[in-house]
Amino acid sequence: MKITKAVIPAAGFGTRFLPATKAIPKEMLPIVDKPTIQYIAEEAIASGITELLIIVSRGKDAIVNHFDKAFELEAVLERDNKQAMLDAVREVSDKIDVHFVRQREQKGLGHAVLCARAFVGNEPFAVMLGDDVVVSDKPCLKQLTEQFEKVGSSVLGVQRVGMDCVSKYGILDCDRVEGRLYKMKSMVEKPKAEEAPSDIAALGRYVLTPAVFKCLERTPRGAGGEIQLTDAIVMLSKTEDVYAYDFEGKRYDIGSKQGFLQATVEFALGRDDLKDEFGAYLKTLVKTI
Ligand code: G1P
Repeated sequence: MKITKAVIPAAGFGTRFLPATKAIPKEMLPIVDKPTIQYIAEEAIASGITELLIIVSRGKDAIVNHFDKAFELEAVLERDNKQAMLDAVREVSDKIDVHFVRQREQKGLGHAVLCARAFVGNEPFAVMLGDDVVVSDKPCLKQLTEQFEKVGSSVLGVQRVGMDCVSKYGILDCDRVEGRLYKMKSMVEKPKAEEAPSDIAALGRYVLTPAVFKCLERTPRGAGGEIQLTDAIVMLSKTEDVYAYDFEGKRYDIGSKQGFLQATVEFALGRDDLKDEFGAYLKTLVKTI
């Protein structure tokens, strides 16, 4: 079965980027000149997703506006024959149906995903977290949907993060099946290094069966007092196989300032229109550090 629906939870406060995120959703902060959430939407499109649900909350209207038609702006760009800008403005909104639902209370990632239940219905779907941007030859989500088509049950996107970073992630206890594919035995949200079963972390890409909703319904508040997607997936693994796939690609943790800055610099260096001048500037700068 092909995965055609994806859910992007974008309801969080973005406290790590205050004061920037006081009035602007963190998902709208740009890497170079594109809001971070658009990179995620583009990965979804490139992975065969045709319907996207973004879970928002109060104060996130800029995200809704971003995926809407900008009628007046487009009319002016059309009149002035600014085709490249017009294409940039229309890039995503013309290629995918985007739906929105508001999470009315901040009860955690698991609760946010539960808000997608009516949209998803009874089919497998993807969850894509906006804090993880992945650059890869084959889109990260596509790598996971291909595995899903093989194994027919949930697949989590994982990579090793090193034991010093396990306390930031959902960490898996798993056995290798073959190559990059693992079978999950258990998972723990943000463990201390000494309690972590491995350094294999769930990194913001999930293909899940709809049975996860029944689990989410029954998931009590966990780490940080929040309803955790991790805990629901552990519950799911008691009745269905859950796999993990060590995806290929470079992941940027843009939820942290360090990762956000790295992505900004590296994405700029990857751009034909910027790399020469910006690269030359960086070389002069490095000498002064
Ligand atoms: C969330 C998940 C965690 C996962 C991480 C990936 O945590 O709860 O399991 O490893 O995303 O980025 P958050 O970063 O929202 O605290």
